[in-house]
Amino acid sequence: MRHGFDTLAIHAGQAPEARTGAVIPPIYQTSTYAQDAVGAPREGYEYSRSGNPTRDALQECLAALEGGQVALAFASGLAAEDTLLRTVCKPGDHVVIPDDAYGGTYRLFAKVAERWGLAYTPAKVSDPDAVRAAIRPGSTRIVWVETPTNPLLGIADIAALAAVAHDAGALLVVDNTFASPYLQQPIAFGADVVVHSTTKYVGGHSDVVGGALVAADRALGEELRYHQNAMGAINGPFDAWLTLRGIKTLGVRMDRHCDNAERIAAYLDGHAKVAQVIYPGLPSHPGHEVAAKQMRRFGGMISFRAAGGEEHAVDICNRARLFVLAESLGGVESLIEHPGRMTHASAAGSPLEVPGDLVRLSVGIETVDDLLADLEQALG
Ligand SMILES: Cc1ncc(COP(=O)(O)O)c(C=O)c1O
Repeated sequence: MRHGFDTLAIHAGQAPEARTGAVIPPIYQTSTYAQDAVGAPREGYEYSRSGNPTRDALQECLAALEGGQVALAFASGLAAEDTLLRTVCKPGDHVVIPDDAYGGTYRLFAKVAERWGLAYTPAKVSDPDAVRAAIRPGSTRIVWVETPTNPLLGIADIAALAAVAHDAGALLVVDNTFASPYLQQPIAFGADVVVHSTTKYVGGHSDVVGGALVAADRALGEELRYHQNAMGAINGPFDAWLTLRGIKTLGVRMDRHCDNAERIAAYLDGHAKVAQVIYPGLPSHPGHEVAAKQMRRFGGMISFRAAGGEEHAVDICNRARLFVLAESLGGVESLIEHPGRMTHASAAGSPLEVPGDLVRLSVGIETVDDLLADLEQALG
């Protein structure tokens, strides 16, 4: 019988260690392994860039949680993305990218990959026809989406886009960072590769940077594994261990993130100092129905537009106390930021530029009344 999500989060890849029975996978803080004879590494372990048991435990767990064949853990989300691009694409190829995305992901396409000959076209991920129109037959290798997107929380219909991508012979890549595998499993809807910044909800405690790729197909997963070793952007053993510790509570954390975010979205909706609340859980969100179809709940991220414009948005961020003014998201503590001047500054002047009056909240798992009181004073 296949176990439930929380059982997998606690046990997949994490059987008690064979020698001592240690219940928690040890941190194999080693670069290399003694070999019994030339060409006979024990259990295949020869060098920690190629393989490490702590990283393997994390990878096995991530594959189980996303329902994929192979998972690979990287030094950061961007390292995972770079390895994926350089495994699947070559100069002259083309990718369709989201018209709203993490600024660093956009920068990777626009400032790094394009210089190496990889063309890209932004398309609105909530509109499958727009994505289809952006495809260049014969050269598009990847349709890349985030859902929900960062920071405008757009929703992509994963099943519809999988059909669009596959019709064109392209892969559908879904950055599942905002949802986490607890809320959404893109492979079940036809995605070929799932990307994570495990820095966020997966790790969950703002204490470690990491990334992951999960492949639906074993052959593609093995190609990615080959490139991970050949390119070297691996997750270290201690970082893998911290991430795995965070994963054990992913389900309970996400439920509290969602509880708190639902309360806060309802409070902000209709508030005189707020022009618009963007949260996929609100029926007014244009992607609400698609989100309800493919997500268990609607997540802990909320964006809103300040009624008083850009300066008001900046003042709200500066006045918040319990909501810490910081980049990143997905930790147990609540964070607030101004995407236009912080996480998405690298998209200024591009088709992915974000509105200046936008504030992004990563709603943590604190007592919700305290969070509401902080927002009330911060809104001014
Ligand atoms: C949706 C999304 N994808 C990818 C990344 C990049 O991950 P990392 O910062 O771990 O490189 C981020 C980081 O904020 C993100 O928000």
